[in-house]
Amino acid sequence: MIKDIQEKILQLKKEQDVCILAHCYQTHDILEIADYVGDSFGLAQNAQKAANKTVMMCGVRFMAETVKILCPEKRVLLPEPDAGCPMAEQIDAQMLSQLKEKFPRHAVVAYINTTAELKTLCDVCVTSSSAAKIIKKMPEDKILFIPDKNLGTYIAKQCPEKEIKTVYGCCPTHAKFSAADVEKARAAHPEALLLVHPECDAQVVEKADFVGSTTEIMDYAKNSPKKEFIIGTENSIVQHLGIDCPEKRFYPLSKDFVCHNMQLTKLSSVLHCLSGDGGEEILMDEKTRLAAKLCIDRMLELGNG
Ligand code: 13P
Ligand code: SF4
Repeated sequence: MIKDIQEKILQLKKEQDVCILAHCYQTHDILEIADYVGDSFGLAQNAQKAANKTVMMCGVRFMAETVKILCPEKRVLLPEPDAGCPMAEQIDAQMLSQLKEKFPRHAVVAYINTTAELKTLCDVCVTSSSAAKIIKKMPEDKILFIPDKNLGTYIAKQCPEKEIKTVYGCCPTHAKFSAADVEKARAAHPEALLLVHPECDAQVVEKADFVGSTTEIMDYAKNSPKKEFIIGTENSIVQHLGIDCPEKRFYPLSKDFVCHNMQLTKLSSVLHCLSGDGGEEILMDEKTRLAAKLCIDRMLELGNG
């Protein structure tokens, strides 16, 4: 059944000249039909590389918006219109304008998990895998980091030479776990290394053996000589690693480590969208697109170099 749907998708995507980009938090059956799978930085890097007329983003809305910002000539599709990132909505343009008035000498660094509208007011965009590198390269010493307080706190430790101001905002999926969850998982799996995403609370990050983005966590686990790992990020990563490395053992930090937005997109959503029976084409006015592009271009310039 899954194979039949995948074959139909591959046929439709060829007929319609569609490139499918998928974030690592998508289910394995979606990763198998994708042209590129990666973390947020990799997805932004690969958006422009696709020669296809249409790009489908299997992930959440801000990722599809990023593709549209970088590739205005392409038709950009989001297979599940309700797949948003709650963190991207936590600060709006009015709140950011007030913060900028309060901190007029700070450069505004936005996590890529923000709306296109908010990006129009930011100086540089970053992702979890590129934030420290980019901030270190910035000439400005004072940084206002929005909206993820946990990622901002982690990055501030990596960049002690910068004065980094964070504001309240967080990923509801990652921020809900505590040191007690780590202790419970470590007691159950004493031989396992703990690999966590920097969107987790500082008390979880402090106890980790490795901290990194989704692809960095996967690469670390694949390349490590160790055999057991507790995964402190969305549970799809446990699924992928279990398939990719059957000789190793992967345990979720919690069975509740689920991003319901990322899991909204099913293989059937991809099929329906390609069949013209669902999904949404991302449209953006040119003024917003051009203004939002500045901070993404700067991210790619500083993050690639
Ligand atoms: P990365 O893929 O950049 O690690 O980001 C994780 C995430 O939560 C995306 O929304
Ligand atoms: Fe947003 Fe968190 Fe889900 Fe990533 S895991 S899409 S940051 S809610």
